[in-house]
Amino acid sequence: MKSEILKMLEEAGDYISGQTLSEIFGVSRTAIWKAIQQLISEGYDIEAVRNRGYLLKKGERADQKEIYSRTSIQTALDTEWLGKDLIFLKETDSTNTALRKLAENGAPEGTVIVADEQTAGRGRRGRSWVSEPGSGIFMSFLLRPEFPPQRASMLTLAAAMAVADGIYEVTGLDCEIKWPNDVIFSGRKLCGILTEMSTDMDTISYVIVGIGINVSQSEFPDEIKDTAASLASCCAGPVSRVGLIVSILKAWERLYSRFLMTDDLIYLRSDYQRRLINVGRDVKVLSESGDYVGISRGITRDGELIVETPDGKEHRVTSGEVSVRGVYGYV
Ligand code: BTN
Repeated sequence: MKSEILKMLEEAGDYISGQTLSEIFGVSRTAIWKAIQQLISEGYDIEAVRNRGYLLKKGERADQKEIYSRTSIQTALDTEWLGKDLIFLKETDSTNTALRKLAENGAPEGTVIVADEQTAGRGRRGRSWVSEPGSGIFMSFLLRPEFPPQRASMLTLAAAMAVADGIYEVTGLDCEIKWPNDVIFSGRKLCGILTEMSTDMDTISYVIVGIGINVSQSEFPDEIKDTAASLASCCAGPVSRVGLIVSILKAWERLYSRFLMTDDLIYLRSDYQRRLINVGRDVKVLSESGDYVGISRGITRDGELIVETPDGKEHRVTSGEVSVRGVYGYV
């Protein structure tokens, strides 16, 4: 009810009486008053005037800081199914870990967890993910696809496209993707994605897509200070975390429904390759059987990276680390 009240106040741009709200929602005026008090405690500037009702004042917060809460996200969210079950946590160890627990207990497809801070944010290949409060997006969403596990690798590539599309919509920055799913701008990493799958025999029980985006950090720890960047530093202005989450979830719904509708992934492949920084560049593959260098020729229809070595052989890389010459990690 809270986010619906907020939406109504936003749209009205005028006073709405407690009586009107209580009739619309079929609850007492005290219940409305309580919901309003909660919104105020979340940071919304709502004025209550006797005989007139409640008014949401806009742009008058002294600090001009965006409100980052379940209500603010839910009010702005216009997706069809993704994020209908939305959990917002001030702090958690890792949104992927928290969502996995819910998935094991039967949480529905489309459940989303967003946290303002992670105390044990996880990256790919056992690394950690810096997750300070107030500065980044740390979110995970749950899928329960019915296709075979082999197709799931495309999901992680599609997630990078959803992020790149969302960033473009909100900031106008046209990002690139470093295979499989780092979203980068000007050679620096803005976003990392950790996709985790649970299978049962030959079927997928669930997939968790975890997205970490550097939004407004002005500095990073020494280990990543030469390779990471935040969106705010790339576009020299504040970026709305709420707006970005909404755009990314919406972009995901669009991409995912296209992905489910057809087995022909050509469109997904060409859209992806348009942003793929690896194509035609020297790359270094760190594989378990030894490192090698070659030129990347794009991706296969299953999302593997094609790397041509100097002897003319084509290798299909399914996992592992691939660095691109000139982009962080391989100079
Ligand atoms: C990478 O190493 O590039 C992947 C980083 C993924 C980080 C995100 S933040 C939200 C979700 N929860 C986690 O613990 N990790 C992912």
